[in-house]
This record gives sequence, C-alpha cells and structure tokens, in this order.
Amino acid sequence: MVEIRSLAYVVAQCREPARWVQYAHEVLGAMAKSRADGVVLVKVDERPYRILVEPGSEDRYLASGWELSGRDAFQGLQLQLDRAGVVFELADAAACASRQVNGLLRASDPSGNRHEFFWGPQLDARAFASPQGVSRFVTGEMGLGHTVLPALNFDATLEFFTKVLGFGVSDIFNFRPDPSVPAIPIHFLHCANGRHHSLALAGFPSPEGCVHIMLEVPDMTDVGRGHDRMQANGIKQMATLGQHLNDHMTSFYMQTPSTFALEYGFGGLVCDWEKHTAFEATEVSIWGHDFSVGFNEKKDAV
Ligand SMILES: [Fe+2]
Repeated sequence: MVEIRSLAYVVAQCREPARWVQYAHEVLGAMAKSRADGVVLVKVDERPYRILVEPGSEDRYLASGWELSGRDAFQGLQLQLDRAGVVFELADAAACASRQVNGLLRASDPSGNRHEFFWGPQLDARAFASPQGVSRFVTGEMGLGHTVLPALNFDATLEFFTKVLGFGVSDIFNFRPDPSVPAIPIHFLHCANGRHHSLALAGFPSPEGCVHIMLEVPDMTDVGRGHDRMQANGIKQMATLGQHLNDHMTSFYMQTPSTFALEYGFGGLVCDWEKHTAFEATEVSIWGHDFSVGFNEKKDAV
C-alpha cells in the first residue's frame, strides 16, 4: 500500500484573506504574503506555505493536503483509489501551479471532507524567520501538524483512511457529553511519520469544515508567548491551556480568521509505531483544556 507521508498543508477559505496575513504575523508568529491571485500563503518553515488561504464567500476550511514520496507513489495511489472505487479528479497544470506541486489529485472522504494528494512540492530558498521571535515550528518529515475533521459517516470514513489510505489508529476517545445518548467516537490516526496523529475523525458536525488544526512549537515559552499574543490581539479563545492525555501536547485553542479553531502547542508525542499500543483515553486532557470558553455552544471537544 502506498504510504501517505504527512499532512503537508491545509487549505482555508476566507472572505478577507488579508486577515490571515495579520493573524499569521501578529498572533501565530508565522510569515505570510498575498499572491497576485488573492491567495494568502502562511509560511512556518522552509516550505513556501503550510496554510493556503483562498478568497471566497464563506469563512471555512476547504481541504487537507497529503504528501506522497514521489511520482511512483502518486501513480500507485491512483491504482489504490481505483481498486477501492473511490472517485478522484486529477488536477490540471494550473491547479498544480496554484499548490506549487508537480502532481495532485482530489477526492472526498465518505463524510464529504475534501482531500488533496500530491507529490513534488516546490521549494524556494526563502528561510523561515518569525516576525514574533518564535524559534521555529515543529514540522519537517512530521508535516504541518494535525487536522481534526467532522466525520458523521464515521465508520465508512474510518475505513477509507485505514483500509484505502493505510492510516493507523493511534488512539480512540469516546466523547460522552450526555450519558443518556451513545458516545460520540473520535479516532486519532497516524500516517507514515512519528507524529501521534496527523488526522482525527470526530463523529460530530462542524459547519466550518474542520474542528481544529494544530501547529506545534518547540517549547512552553513559545506557547505562552502565543497565548499572550492571542489576548493582546483580541482573538477568541476556544479552549484554555491544558495537556492532552493521548499525545501529551500542552496547548491552547483559538479561533482563526476562517472560523475553525487552531491548537497552538508543544511537546506532542513522537511514536515508534512498532512499539505503540493503541488505547482508549477516557479523558481528553491530563489537566486544563476547558472547552466551555469557546466550543461550549457546540458541545465540541478535543
Ligand atoms: Fe489537536
């Protein structure tokens, strides 16, 4: 089975993409620039971008960008999708140029989330230099971080990622906001890198198209300074500081200009999948992470 190497980028949509430039510079401590076509590229490492923001009529999440090792893997994935009966669309040259990659295909998972699979990202010589003194973002072969997607068609979506795309289940959590109704499943999935999860599937709706994305910084000082910048810039906090039980990440959550949330944390677990044992966490966090400050009206978690 072809390996999905990492979550390389996410695509957001925003009515005013320029808001992302300010958010990146002032809050995330990331670089950002507007392209001639109105797209905003948010840069957190040596890649030209890790968050691509398209102008549009709605503030929302659009797609997750998954990286393959090269052309052979890209062709192998097409065979895999064909065999599984998954409909996909090969991107034309203009679409590849927009994403700055050599080859790209698009497909939807059984819950309707949009995914892009590509090979051959273009690199330039522009180094990352944070405008806020963030030392660096933890990316590299582990990709940009993780994304948590709504999966109302849960079992079929889980099967799509595990059986068709080769993701592994790292851990599970069964969310029980109301003991009288069945638990809501959340499964944390990894691909071919050590990050505890690059993707989580959540069995509840998210009108923004994504529950949250996560960016990782190397230490607590960077998280604390990010927290200060969130407050100084009047950004809506979605969950208080806390530490997750499953991936040990110490983080807080805040809103992005595209309305979905962003987890800003450090200390995420890097796993050796030969030795890892999947478990069910019965608590989201070891301490903190009060989701009632932002997610409460939707009863969302994680
Ligand atoms: Fe997360």
